[in-house]
Amino acid sequence: MPDTQKHHRAIRSFVRREGRMTEAQKRALEELLPRYGVSPGETPLDLVACFGREAPVHLEIGFGNGEALAAMALAQPQNNYLGLEVHRPGVGVLLRRLEAEGIPNVRVACADAKEVLEQRIPDASLSAVYVFFPDPWHKLRHHKRRLVQPAFIALLHRKLKPGGTLHLATDWEDYARQMLALLSAADGFENAAGPDLYAPRPEARPLTRFERRGQRLGHGVWDLVFRRRPVAVPAG
Ligand SMILES: C[S@@+](CC[C@H](N)C(=O)[O-])C[C@H]1O[C@@H](n2cnc3c(N)ncnc32)[C@H](O)[C@@H]1O
Repeated sequence: MPDTQKHHRAIRSFVRREGRMTEAQKRALEELLPRYGVSPGETPLDLVACFGREAPVHLEIGFGNGEALAAMALAQPQNNYLGLEVHRPGVGVLLRRLEAEGIPNVRVACADAKEVLEQRIPDASLSAVYVFFPDPWHKLRHHKRRLVQPAFIALLHRKLKPGGTLHLATDWEDYARQMLALLSAADGFENAAGPDLYAPRPEARPLTRFERRGQRLGHGVWDLVFRRRPVAVPAG
């Protein structure tokens, strides 16, 4: 592997802080991850086998406690939802909810989204990708840790179906501007709200505890909705 690639791989968008895992969350990971988790491996998943049915697959990256993911899965039972999150206590919270409420259309992986996308998600297989309130990494020297970077956008583009949507939200204005600039410049995406515009808050995006806290503190929220352009049909 070239040195530049090694360096790129070493920069992570998260720091694992595992403190305060309850016994119930630990048990959920042990007992429920085998049921709701995607099997480990390095080859592309069979998404139909994974969910036990064929349906549009929507992916949420960094789902936190899974509040939005569970709400979307309940509201849109016709879709399959896959969630990726590295924070084990949050995964435990979601697993407990999936079982308690009998939510059948969610699968999770407790792993780095970049690795899962690269290794396990088939190309052109996702109908939608959600990235809600990714860690903003405020300090300039930490901006390289931000999830939304050109290489990540190119990876999402490859995994989305033509016409599939990418929906991001952040309460950090400088990150919102960076997302808008990068996505507007990215080949193969079009802004559903119109050139250089943020999207009105889509009603389908559930309000999470994280966002409610931001609202109380008077933070703004910026939504971005982009579509993977349909594949151009060569003329002639
Ligand atoms: C600020 S929190 C937002 C959580 C949730 N989306 C919400 O709105 O409440 C960002 C989350 O992204 C997760 N995260 C960051 N980088 C990740 C990665 N590469 N793969 C999976 N999860 C990641 C973090 O663990 C954290 O839970």
